[in-house]
Amino acid sequence: MLKIWIAGSAGQIGTAINEVLDPLEMEVFNTDKDELDITQTDEVLSFGEINRPDVIINCAGITDMDLCEKEPELAYRVNALGARNLSIVARKIGAKIVHISTDDVFDGNKNTPYSEFDDTNPKTVYGRSKRAGENYVREFTHKHFVIRSSWIFGHGDNFVTRVLRKAGNGELIEAAIDETGCPTSAKDLARIILYLITTNEYGTYHATCKGLCSRYDFAREILSLAGLHAEVKEISIADSKEHLVRPAYAVLDNFILRIIDVYEMPKWKQSLEEYIAEWKEETHE
Ligand SMILES: NC(=O)c1ccc[n+]([C@@H]2O[C@H](COP(=O)([O-])OP(=O)(O)OC[C@H]3O[C@@H](n4cnc5c(N)ncnc54)[C@H](OP(=O)(O)O)[C@@H]3O)[C@@H](O)[C@H]2O)c1
Repeated sequence: MLKIWIAGSAGQIGTAINEVLDPLEMEVFNTDKDELDITQTDEVLSFGEINRPDVIINCAGITDMDLCEKEPELAYRVNALGARNLSIVARKIGAKIVHISTDDVFDGNKNTPYSEFDDTNPKTVYGRSKRAGENYVREFTHKHFVIRSSWIFGHGDNFVTRVLRKAGNGELIEAAIDETGCPTSAKDLARIILYLITTNEYGTYHATCKGLCSRYDFAREILSLAGLHAEVKEISIADSKEHLVRPAYAVLDNFILRIIDVYEMPKWKQSLEEYIAEWKEETHE
């Protein structure tokens, strides 16, 4: 039976991995900040050495971009050194490691999708600390999967839940027409992660749902699937509160997945439909 350690298990992606793992025959060690802070090197090493997982999945991170700008030491401690600690113990015990990363390692200045072979050029503390984490993982163990994704929606605070909440409260929703990305459900990301860990196809991957859209179109689609009526104001990313910290063009090309031709991500609208159907069930319970 495969033993899996999920660090940052209470977050959106950690929760989705647990949901997808639930029916499978696997032993799972879940830890989040309260049980095991990944910045505590000795504790991370001893947890790994005692429990000896076959796979370590690093879902822990500081994802609040404003917080990263305000507290860069914290961002680097968790997003970079935390990833280093997990990869050191992975190498020590011979485990595979999955490290979740982001489109924010790119500057967003292109207008064609970024492949795994494009040069990174993060423009934010979040993006730079995530790139540093990627580099540590590659440096400390070759049995790695660095998986970059974007615009995740799962259990927790994300763009979809914010749009649904605002619509429910009758608030105005503002969304940028010139901010482009690939919405990806945390569950679909979890499924590809659980596929990859059964292989030896190590390396860096882009894994987003198929298709792309603007924030504005994304907001409209969320409301339409949820059957909610709310005003969506079309704004420019330059007017958005997030313009300093978000790449305008956050589109990742799943190039490696496509050329190895073993796994296809679903379309984002299909994944959003599944997500909204679950949200409807939960809210009408
Ligand atoms: N969300 C996205 O759109 C997106 C896109 C691409 C990549 N990613 C990456 O995917 C990973 C997971 O994202 P997510 O959306 O699931 O984030 P999330 O919901 O914010 O979850 C991150 C989890 O890590 C925990 N954590 C923070 N500091 C920690 C520490 N020192 N030790 C152990 N755990 C710690 C957090 O706990 P607290 O909540 O208590 O701080 C939280 O439970 C992140 O590394 C992120 O960079 C996310």
